[in-house]
Amino acid sequence: MPPYEPVLGWLTKVEAMSQWYEVGETKQVAPGTMKAVEVGGTKVVLVHTASGVRAFEDRCGHMSAPISIGTFKSGVLKCALHAAVFDAESGAVRGQPQMHVPASDKLPPEMLQAMAEMGKIMGQIRCEPLRPYPVAVSNGQISVYL
Ligand code: FES
Repeated sequence: MPPYEPVLGWLTKVEAMSQWYEVGETKQVAPGTMKAVEVGGTKVVLVHTASGVRAFEDRCGHMSAPISIGTFKSGVLKCALHAAVFDAESGAVRGQPQMHVPASDKLPPEMLQAMAEMGKIMGQIRCEPLRPYPVAVSNGQISVYL
């Protein structure tokens, strides 16, 4: 017996672990709002868009901040950490992260220089789309396929 199963066998096991999970009721996610839920250790954000409830991994595609602590407005999700913007229907990137420092005119020049250096590095980090999950709604019950 080989020490490892063939890759295809491993993939089949992962697929076998995927299933539908009931995550809440539609009345708990009003139109125009979002709600964070946890399903079997996976953090998910439910977003009630103009076309229905969407589900994404609750992780920004930039540096993994919870997207649920950001904002949902006018069809887009905005990350609270660096303000990357994502399409709430598809999770596609609609705006790149920004380096914004409130009241930066009050910071010492050395700190501003260090932040400028960090900003250069941050600019090299690619912002990925949000990971979507399939959603089904039946009798007011929301289910997500993980
Ligand atoms: S972690 Fe979300 S924009 Fe940087």
